[in-house]
Amino acid sequence: MGKRIAVFASGNGSNAENLITYFDKSESGRVVLVLTNKADAGVIDRVEKMGILCKVFANDQWKTGEAILKALHEEDIDFIVLAGFLLRIPLNLLHAYPHHIVNIHPALLPKFGGKGMYGDRVHQAVIDAGETHTGITIHYIDEHYDEGSIIFQAECPVYPTDTSSDVAERVHQLEYRYYPDVVEQLLYKV
Ligand code: GAR
Repeated sequence: MGKRIAVFASGNGSNAENLITYFDKSESGRVVLVLTNKADAGVIDRVEKMGILCKVFANDQWKTGEAILKALHEEDIDFIVLAGFLLRIPLNLLHAYPHHIVNIHPALLPKFGGKGMYGDRVHQAVIDAGETHTGITIHYIDEHYDEGSIIFQAECPVYPTDTSSDVAERVHQLEYRYYPDVVEQLLYKV
């Protein structure tokens, strides 16, 4: 069955779904747990329909991280994948899972990263800056937003007529294409 993966997500959960589907057919690992900080996040319905255990923790529980770490240990989690997760990762998790937590950012870091930069805000900032390219960055998580070492990047064009949802759509396609693959390569090394 390979490594046991937890996905953290705060929103719609399309990447979470894509990861679950991919690892269903992979020897390297399996998504066995999804954690969220939002009781009304789209990801909950999505993954429960796929038979995956999903737990909600309130924002103050994400500050200390104790209950989160307990939930991860209960499910014997080896590796953590963030997919549209918007809170800071508590220190106790960073210590318990060094180099075992990765994030995907919907732009080419170090540009367009940092606190408050998520989803459409990132794409709008890319358009406002007149960029002709954007993309995805997969990186390790450390104590700072969007500053852990970069593992992988891929690019796509930005056209002058693009809206933020056009860019989001193109970036999502890159995420679906590459995120599971890159995580799989990492799982073989941990
Ligand atoms: C994804 O594009 C992900 O890169 C982004 O949120 C989206 C979640 O979509 N993450 C960030 O902006 C983190 N700073 P999804 O819920 O459909 O997977």
